[in-house]
Amino acid sequence: MPTILSLPISLSEPLPSEFSSDDVRYSERFVEYCLKTFSKQNDIIFDPFAGFGTTLLIAEKMKRTSFGVEIDKQRVDYITSKLNTKESIIHGDITNLSSIAMKNFDLLLTSPPYMNSFEQESPFDNFQSKSNYSEYLNKLEMIFQELEPFMNKGGNCLVEVANLYAEGKLTTLAWDIAGRLRKFMDLQREFIICWEGEELKENRGIYGYGYDHSYLLVFHKREESNSKKNSL
Ligand SMILES: C[S@@+](CC[C@H](N)C(=O)[O-])C[C@H]1O[C@@H](n2cnc3c(N)ncnc32)[C@H](O)[C@@H]1O
Repeated sequence: MPTILSLPISLSEPLPSEFSSDDVRYSERFVEYCLKTFSKQNDIIFDPFAGFGTTLLIAEKMKRTSFGVEIDKQRVDYITSKLNTKESIIHGDITNLSSIAMKNFDLLLTSPPYMNSFEQESPFDNFQSKSNYSEYLNKLEMIFQELEPFMNKGGNCLVEVANLYAEGKLTTLAWDIAGRLRKFMDLQREFIICWEGEELKENRGIYGYGYDHSYLLVFHKREESNSKKNSL
């Protein structure tokens, strides 16, 4: 299996004008690759940071059952307008899992909100509260640790993430997240995704975070780990 993938960064449809051009979605071709490689028809796919719903929309097209959580109401409304199965998107805060009607899933596919190590606002509540990089990593670890029991036996967790280069500083985000999540899931492999396309912003690389590539981290559920049998 090739571990260096070249994929176009382009998306089939622009976002409506009410959204900012800085709003980030991942590529549809990337989601198609992940679902084709790591899931089969009728598998349940989950995205805890649904964003504009790329995971859910492609999953629906590829006949997978899917659901996702997104904190931003405007994005939730956008996803609802695009999905046939409207109830697949849950408006909620994934840091407060007990408030969400969580179900079991076979594959988690997501790209979390990113944070540079020098930033001071939490990306988990739309930058409203103060935070720091270490708190951010702790919270991300907690979110995935709480979600892991909902992953069915044999399930995978796929995280798309880049290291970040901004203001002359490198944040090893991809490697730090790999280190946190492998505490309770098996990190099986990493893929390097080389993004093809026009440079988005001067000095920010094709991917927009100082690089032309990102990583697909593949975690596998541990054999000895327990699964939740039923939905909450
Ligand atoms: C990198 S974006 C995901 C983009 C998505 N993959 C797409 O293609 O549209 C991360 C998303 O996580 C959402 N988010 C941040 N904190 C959250 C939270 N506490 N609960 C649920 N969603 C959250 C953000 O609003 C953002 O839309």
